[in-house]
Amino acid sequence: MAYFGGRTTGPNLAKGDIVVSPAENIIENLTTAVVVADTALRLQAVNPATEMLFELSAKQMVGQQLQRLWPQTAPLVSLFADTLQTAHSFTRRGLPLLLPGREAIVDMTVTALLPGRNVDRRDAALLLELTQVDRLRRLAQEEELMDRHVAQRAVVRGLAHEIKNPLGGLRGAAQLLERKLTESEREYTRIIIREADRLQSLVDRLAEPARPYLQAQVNIHQILEHVRSLLLAEVGENVVFRRDYDPSIPEFAADPDQLVQAILNLVRNAVQSSSRTVVLRSRIERQFTIGQRRHKLVLRTEVEDNGPGVPQALRDTLFYPMVTGRAEGSGLGLSIAQDIARRHGGLIEYVSRPGRTVFTLFLPLRQDYDATG
Ligand SMILES: Nc1ncnc2c1ncn2[C@@H]1O[C@H](COP(=O)(O)OP(=O)(O)O)[C@@H](O)[C@H]1O
Ligand SMILES: [Mg+2]
Repeated sequence: MAYFGGRTTGPNLAKGDIVVSPAENIIENLTTAVVVADTALRLQAVNPATEMLFELSAKQMVGQQLQRLWPQTAPLVSLFADTLQTAHSFTRRGLPLLLPGREAIVDMTVTALLPGRNVDRRDAALLLELTQVDRLRRLAQEEELMDRHVAQRAVVRGLAHEIKNPLGGLRGAAQLLERKLTESEREYTRIIIREADRLQSLVDRLAEPARPYLQAQVNIHQILEHVRSLLLAEVGENVVFRRDYDPSIPEFAADPDQLVQAILNLVRNAVQSSSRTVVLRSRIERQFTIGQRRHKLVLRTEVEDNGPGVPQALRDTLFYPMVTGRAEGSGLGLSIAQDIARRHGGLIEYVSRPGRTVFTLFLPLRQDYDATG
């Protein structure tokens, strides 16, 4: 869709064809949100990056008053008027943009689009360029997280492998020894065998090779519902699950069992955080960057809880294996979930404060959706 384009006719065009000039195409694909507003600060045109930033469609925004969509710009009204009068552009950094369930920080540059001298000033317009700065910061952090995760996994797999081999020998020797012992002495070898088995299963989970990745057509809501029913059986009435799904999300290619595992780990953590309410949310992001790759469509699955939040001491190392805040925890849940996300080209991130913790799984929607993108 070309919000900056117009319907027109031409020699080789059918009536109603949308003509997108190269300049419009650039605006369509910019990651900077671009807004054109008239002298009364009513929005005249927005690009897809603006839709993403405000989480509204162009249809919902065009014609609206800027201050209504974004009350934090209300104090700048006189500056907008100055810009229109003097054609001096201005920039405001760090403007908050409050959206339902999300807060963005935005840098804004405002320029006057003035028509020729003899034209009525009322035909002038303002060009707003909006860059979400917290997102840029997030991207840098994200890359670091991915690099660290790859390095950690290599260390952990190597270590697990080193433990695995002698462990088999240890267990075998204990079994041989067992035969030579009296029944009362066997208690010791049984402890050795039991503990070796426990270590073995831990090491297996740590060393988990990049399992062959099964491609199937996956419906995210089926997966979320499956996870919900599993956990309902565990927690009963103690936790209320709320569902906030975008039903228009298409099916995509992924490994369903692995996705269940990853999301189960997130939801189980939310439930274990002594939260009373857990929200499962699905959304689509357009032109979204994960790591260094930009994707046309990205599925955003959120698990939100109202528990006490991630302990401060764990925040920087949360996705490391064996980092846990619970006495009986293994610290593997998030590490495994992150691994699964990565194998799908995705990423898990979180924000947390007392009363609101959100773990977000981003997954590129892979398949032939280009037609709708
Ligand atoms: N939703 C959450 N709220 C509060 N703390 C959390 C949440 N999710 C994870 N954590 C913290 O992160 C730690 C690591 O989680 P995880 O990797 O799943 O291992 P485990 O659950 O075995 O401890 C948890 O022990 C907990 O302290
Ligand atoms: Mg866990």
